[in-house]
This record gives sequence, structure tokens and C-alpha cells, in this order.
Amino acid sequence: MSKNFYVTTPIYYVNDKPHIGHAYTTILADVLNRFYQINGYDTFFLTGLDEHGQKVQEAAKKKNIEPLEQCDEMVPQFKNLWEKLHISNNDFIRTTEPRHVSVVQDILTKVFNKEDIYKDEYEGLYSVSEERFITEKEAETGNFRDIKKIKEKNYFFRMSKYQNKLIKYIESNPNFIQPEHRKNEIIGFLDKPLNDLCISRPKSRLSWGIELPFDKEYVTYVWFDALINYLTGIGFKKDKKLFEKYWPASYQLIGKDILTTHAIYWPTMLMSLGIELPKTIFAHGWWLISESKMSKSIGNVIDPMELINEHGADPVRYYLMREMVLGQDSNFTVESFKNRYNSDLANDFGNLLSRVSTLMKKNFEGKIPLPNKMTKMEKEIQLKSKNLIENVRGKVKNMRINEAIEDIMQFIRGINKYVEVSAPWKMVKVDKENAGTVLFTAGEALRISALLLEPIMPNRTSELLAAFDAKGTSLNWGGLVPGTILKDHDPLFPRLK
Ligand code: ME8
Ligand code: MG
Repeated sequence: MSKNFYVTTPIYYVNDKPHIGHAYTTILADVLNRFYQINGYDTFFLTGLDEHGQKVQEAAKKKNIEPLEQCDEMVPQFKNLWEKLHISNNDFIRTTEPRHVSVVQDILTKVFNKEDIYKDEYEGLYSVSEERFITEKEAETGNFRDIKKIKEKNYFFRMSKYQNKLIKYIESNPNFIQPEHRKNEIIGFLDKPLNDLCISRPKSRLSWGIELPFDKEYVTYVWFDALINYLTGIGFKKDKKLFEKYWPASYQLIGKDILTTHAIYWPTMLMSLGIELPKTIFAHGWWLISESKMSKSIGNVIDPMELINEHGADPVRYYLMREMVLGQDSNFTVESFKNRYNSDLANDFGNLLSRVSTLMKKNFEGKIPLPNKMTKMEKEIQLKSKNLIENVRGKVKNMRINEAIEDIMQFIRGINKYVEVSAPWKMVKVDKENAGTVLFTAGEALRISALLLEPIMPNRTSELLAAFDAKGTSLNWGGLVPGTILKDHDPLFPRLK
């Protein structure tokens, strides 16, 4: 089995700065990247920006600046946010970079020479907001804004040629489109004949794009350009070794808003190129604000920077990962953020740590005590921790991250109970050795929980592990070294009001 892992996020439009929705997909990719890395995979994590197209051109026009200036202004907004969120991406791609432009032009030439691109006159409805031609039916749904009737000569990609091949592929590769209900949506869509894809825009209408290598009057449709970033980012045509190591991608994470482009346009493009398809396209749901999608165009967005500045990156990462069932929508409210923080992080996790370290300081000279004989309770905890590790691994691999987190929290709550029932603060007066066993056991449980939560909260867990001098220890029971002096630390998760 290959031990390589490649994860991508969508490349975000630079018409505006990032909001919680963008942060969410990027954090999810980061969590998977860290998780697979910890589990022995060689990983590559790509994110970046989609800089061409109408949206960006219009955003620039509004500010009376050049499109590239608009891009350059937005780059630090994204990069700073990812840095603040401790995003561990290996590369950051911008579609205006020469390395990408040349790959896109090479690919266009190849597909053109293969006669999978042809020129035709087309008259139809065009949605400016979606930047694509839509059918009469689609127009009737009312889901598209700024519809114009356009008649012009354009270049088309023979997407229809690959329709049957794509259907067969989806049916014989059940993991290709996830979750299941999104796959069914695509299968349903493929029931009707596919149109060919218009992949050019005349410069008279849109100039901000990559020029077609075979016709200088046109630029490439922004999606044909953008999807290719996933190849450019791992050295397609430039670094054969890197590319072959990481392609096909393990997970291409997207929001459900861009499912069609990723599950239909993208695979048919790859088929035309004779390149393997990614292993999994995973479409998650939306973060909603009072039941409607958080979106730049609606203007109801939450700025992740404000939340991070107030509460730190880890609690934001934790909340987003714990609260959303992958594949479903979730409501974002500051109130639920605070509730989740207080109940899980302050009351359960943080409280266990402060209890254990206070008791070690008070009764064991601030050292990790030597465990004495394990009773039934301690043996049970050890067994539980083993099961927990297996469950968490299985659930993350099945993209059930919220459940994996809940399992860890349940384990922590169980340990809090165990400490309460054992009452080591009383026990220490009559049976110091066994009180030491209780504290060692609770400390071990904390260490293992911190290791399991590391991909979600890399900073606070690293502080916890440092306090026990247990950074880099394994998940096997017994990683704490008795006699180690506990390091002082600030409360990990002070309660919010
Ligand atoms: O679509 N909830 O860029 P974009 C959850 N450039 N996720 C959300 C979200 C929300 N409310 N809002 C946005 C584009 N996202 C193209 C992609 S890829 C080759 C080109 C996330 O700036 C989610 O991942 O509109 C969604 O798919 C993406 O941001 C769209 O970002
Ligand atoms: Mg969008």
C-alpha cells in the first residue's frame, strides 16, 4: 500500500478576504494532513488562490485598480490567516504565477491537438455570477443571478465524449465522490446528456485570464484554468518525481457549491489528458448564518481573524471540526462557539489537566508519581485508551472527524469521573502510593488524549505535552516518565463568560 498522501483545498477567489467558510476547508485539510503524517504517511498539502476571471476583474474595477493589484492585496489576507491558524501547507499556488500559466497553456494545446477542443458559435443564457452558460431549465430554478443572452463564437471542450466513461468510473469506484448523497446527485445529473463545456471567453468581454495558445483573441474560462492548479502544485511537467509520488490526490476537499466543476468538469478533463483521477472528491456542507449560506456575495460573513485574536487558533479549529458533521450543513453562532468551548475545552479537558497538575504539585513535589499496582479501574482505563486509539484512527479515515473528537471527549469525561470517584486528594493521606497510581493514570490519559487531539489543536496539545515532558512520545500506554518534574503552564482553556 502506498504511504503517500496528497490533500488539496479549493483555490479561493481573491475578490474578497477569507471568511469562516474558507477557513473551515483549509483547517479540515490541515487536520487530515497532520493526521496522516503522524500515522506514517509522506504527505503533501496544497492550497492557494484563484486569481483570474470575471469576479476578480470586477472586484478590481470597483476599486479602480488593476486585477493583479487586487490579487496582490488579497494574498497576505489569506497567507496571514493560514499562518495564524497554523496551517501546514507545503505550497501556496497563485494561478497568475508563470509556473501555472505555462501548465495551463500546455494542457490546452494538448487537448486542442487531440481535437477534444473545437470552435463553434453558440447562443445561450449566460450567468455572470456563475461565470458559465446555463440551460433554460437552470435559469428557471431562480438560482442564478445576472443572466444575459449571449451569442458568440467560442471554444468548446468535448465533455460529452467522456460521459459514459465517467459514469462507469463513478460506479466502479464508490469512494470517488463522497459523501454518498453527493455521488448520487452527480449520478442523477449524468442521467441526462452532458453538454460540451465552453472553455473560452472572448477578450472583448473578459480580458483577465490565461490566453488560449491557439487563439490570441480569447482567454481560458476560469474553471478550466483553476482546476489545473491541483496538477501544477505538485510539479506536473516540471518535477516528474514529485508529481508521480503524490498524484492521484488522496482527498480533494471542496464545499458542495463547487461539486459539478469537480465531479464532472475535472474528471473529464483528466480523462482527455490520460491522467488518473483523484481517489476522492469530498464535498462538505455549508456553514450557515441564521439558515442561509455564509457568503461574500450575501455579505453575512464571520471574520475568522477576530475570533482567533480573541480566543486563539486552537479553539476555533476545535469548534469547526467538532461542530460540523462532514457532509451536512451547520449553523455558526458565537453563542454555540462559547458553549462548546466551555463545556468541552474548559470544563472537561482543561479542568482535568489543572486537577492533575495541581495534585501532583501539592502532594508529589511537582513530579509525576510512580504508578503502583493497577486495580481493575486502571486496567479498564488502559484498555479503553487502546480502543479509543483504534476508533479515532478508523473514524478519521472515514471522515467522521466530529465523532472521533466526541470519542476523545467522552474518554476525558470518563477520566474526570475516575478522578472524582478515586478522590486522590483524600487517598493521599492514607495510601499515598495508590493516590500516585491514580494521578499517573489520569496523566497518561491526558497525554494520550493530547496526542490524539494534536491534528485538531496542535498548539495547546503541544503545551500540555511539554508540561509533562512528553512531546514525541508514542500512543502506547506508559509514555510518562515517573519522577519527571512538571513544567509550569498557563491554564490551557480559561473559561469564557
Ligand atoms: O469557488 N461554508 O472559490 P470561493 C463552508 N475559486 N465552506 C465554504 C463556505 C461556507 N459558507 N463558503 C465558502 C471558488 N466555503 C473557486 C474554487 S477550485 C479549483 C476553484 C469554502 O472563494 C468551500 O470550500 O468561492 C467552498 O467550496 C469554497 O470555500 C469556495 O470558495
Ligand atoms: Mg463561491
